[in-house]
Amino acid sequence: MVELIALCTSGLEAAPSFEIKAYGYKIIDSVSGKVKFLAPLEDVPLILNSFRTVDRILIKVGEFEVTNFDDLFDKVYNLNWKDYIEKRGKVVIEKVKITNSILSATGAVASIIKKSIYEKLKNSYKCKIWEENEIVYPICVYLKDNLATIALDTVHKGSLAKRGYRIKHVPTSLRETIAASMILLSRWDASKILIDPFCGSGTIPIEAALLASGKTLKREYICEKWEMFKDLKQNFYPSREQKEIDYKIYGYDKSYNAISIAKENAALAGVNIHLEKKVMESLSPSNDIIYFVSNLPYGIKEKDNIADTYQKMRYLLRAFPNGKFYFITPESKFEDYFGRKANKKFRFQNSGIWVWFYMFYE
Ligand SMILES: C[S@@+](CC[C@H](N)C(=O)[O-])C[C@H]1O[C@@H](n2cnc3c(N)ncnc32)[C@H](O)[C@@H]1O
Repeated sequence: MVELIALCTSGLEAAPSFEIKAYGYKIIDSVSGKVKFLAPLEDVPLILNSFRTVDRILIKVGEFEVTNFDDLFDKVYNLNWKDYIEKRGKVVIEKVKITNSILSATGAVASIIKKSIYEKLKNSYKCKIWEENEIVYPICVYLKDNLATIALDTVHKGSLAKRGYRIKHVPTSLRETIAASMILLSRWDASKILIDPFCGSGTIPIEAALLASGKTLKREYICEKWEMFKDLKQNFYPSREQKEIDYKIYGYDKSYNAISIAKENAALAGVNIHLEKKVMESLSPSNDIIYFVSNLPYGIKEKDNIADTYQKMRYLLRAFPNGKFYFITPESKFEDYFGRKANKKFRFQNSGIWVWFYMFYE
């Protein structure tokens, strides 16, 4: 077993926690954008291919209290680096994040850690000099309240949010991991209808379809090249077995341009969903249980008529009496405009903007 750290959008930890539990792993801790859990090392490829709501998966190498540089050097040296890093592996300090700690100079912390790792590796592999090869081992360091967490990033360049299908964007495209988080937290399943009435580039309907079918697009992870995964190379290729799904997923937008972008993205993702130019106010009424999951319009251009649009959304309550609604918007008065109190709501940061996630399900 290793301790893994799932990095996610701060405030949305419930979504990766849901995925981690669904795969039967044990959660150790969950705080501000990090969910720590235990899993077998050989499951890392499966986790990278299957989890939809995490930006990165880190392997924790060590955790210790530290208040001075000598101690930092010694405690990093005491970790079993040979278990993780092969001979001539190239250590790259990818991130150092320090909060409320005595050691505060990120540059100095990074260089001491790198020096200490190389000294230990030279000793373990019995070599005088460390000639780096091109196999990169990115290290993330978090120092909070004098507690240092040292971890290896299995992904490195590009986050897991970048699935590869979203070649084109609209100005307010939603991060793919946030779209997947909204869908998971709505508890939607593929037997039900899902509608995004403001779908823009199609992120939410596409993520719903990928989730329902279990489909993953192949992408590169830095750890595929690591010695410790050399016998698991095949596992980094997503399973070809996919569920045949009769999708009941619909995306609408008033913009013709947005719909044509969404169609291109859906084609790249290989999902066959219904995308159509239509204004929200003209959706055909239905008594079905329908999940409305959407990232509502907001932003500079639409600011003036946003209150008007939100008030018009009362139409959805009348036209879909059995609808369940899951919306994100920065608007704190949305419930007043919509004319209904949310069953649950919480805030998180979406690309630097605080947004509310409103859930209306009863
Ligand atoms: C925040 S964007 C959605 C972005 C989307 N989640 C994505 O990832 O690309 C909101 C979208 O709502 C659309 N919109 C605004 N008012 C609308 C209306 N009354 N009916 C349908 N679409 C509308 C805009 O054209 C815009 O594409």
